[in-house]
Amino acid sequence: MPLTPGDTGGKPKVKNPHFGERIGSVQMDKALYVREMFAEIAPRYDATNKLLTAGADEGWRKRAVAELAAPHGGHILDLCCGTGDLAFHLVKTDPTLEVTGTDFCAPMLDGARSRAQREDRAGRTTFVEGDVMALPFADATFDGATMGFSMRNVVDIVATLREARRVLKPGSRLVNLDVSKAPNPLFRRLFNLYFYGLVPLVGGIVGGSKSAYTYLPNSLTNYPDADELAARFRTAGFSEVRYVRLGGGAIAAHVGVA
Ligand SMILES: C[S@@+](CC[C@H](N)C(=O)[O-])C[C@H]1O[C@@H](n2cnc3c(N)ncnc32)[C@H](O)[C@@H]1O
Repeated sequence: MPLTPGDTGGKPKVKNPHFGERIGSVQMDKALYVREMFAEIAPRYDATNKLLTAGADEGWRKRAVAELAAPHGGHILDLCCGTGDLAFHLVKTDPTLEVTGTDFCAPMLDGARSRAQREDRAGRTTFVEGDVMALPFADATFDGATMGFSMRNVVDIVATLREARRVLKPGSRLVNLDVSKAPNPLFRRLFNLYFYGLVPLVGGIVGGSKSAYTYLPNSLTNYPDADELAARFRTAGFSEVRYVRLGGGAIAAHVGVA
């Protein structure tokens, strides 16, 4: 049975283990919960995603790939790759790229590998199981990295960013694409109606798990706003940090140079 927010596997109970960045067993609980939750929704993840964004994520992903400006023939890392959406966008945009996707949820990686048979016949993508906070790669391995719709799920954002920077070659870029807090209050209210109301409803019916699609929007609540996330990029050692707002500000693509 999947872990639930209140299930600490016999450890002392703690309030709201999903949100905030805390220490010790709470971190482990969040990571376990996130992995179990994605394992549960993996089989229908792609279809649900497309439905919930009405396909708009295609444009955001293209923009993220453009912001990466990956060097021709480079080796790119797609962090928390899930079923590989960004990885496939990368190799479709530039077939000379080699892309390694990494994720800690085996069923999501299974989805990526089966998609690769259809979407990457040239075999430019590889998918490796790993935790973004302890990546199984040597220092300065990659010529760029992407991360899509995942930063909200990690236990420690700065530690994640530091780990991403460690495996990047100096001077290469990280692009992080994720939901953000729209600056316009009216738009934010409309977006919240969709995000906190419609997403759990549709996610429950189509995605097969109402609790997962309730967790996902809620993970935005304690997520830093765009300026604060940019500050964390700087804290982690990235330079030339900037961001582009997309989707009326409900999405942001942050860019930093390692
Ligand atoms: C919302 S999905 C996004 C997948 C993909 N990047 C996309 O754009 O569609 C979030 C992914 O992050 C992964 N994830 C969350 N925390 C992780 C961690 N600490 N290490 C590795 N993967 C993680 C989950 O397993 C899941 O596949």
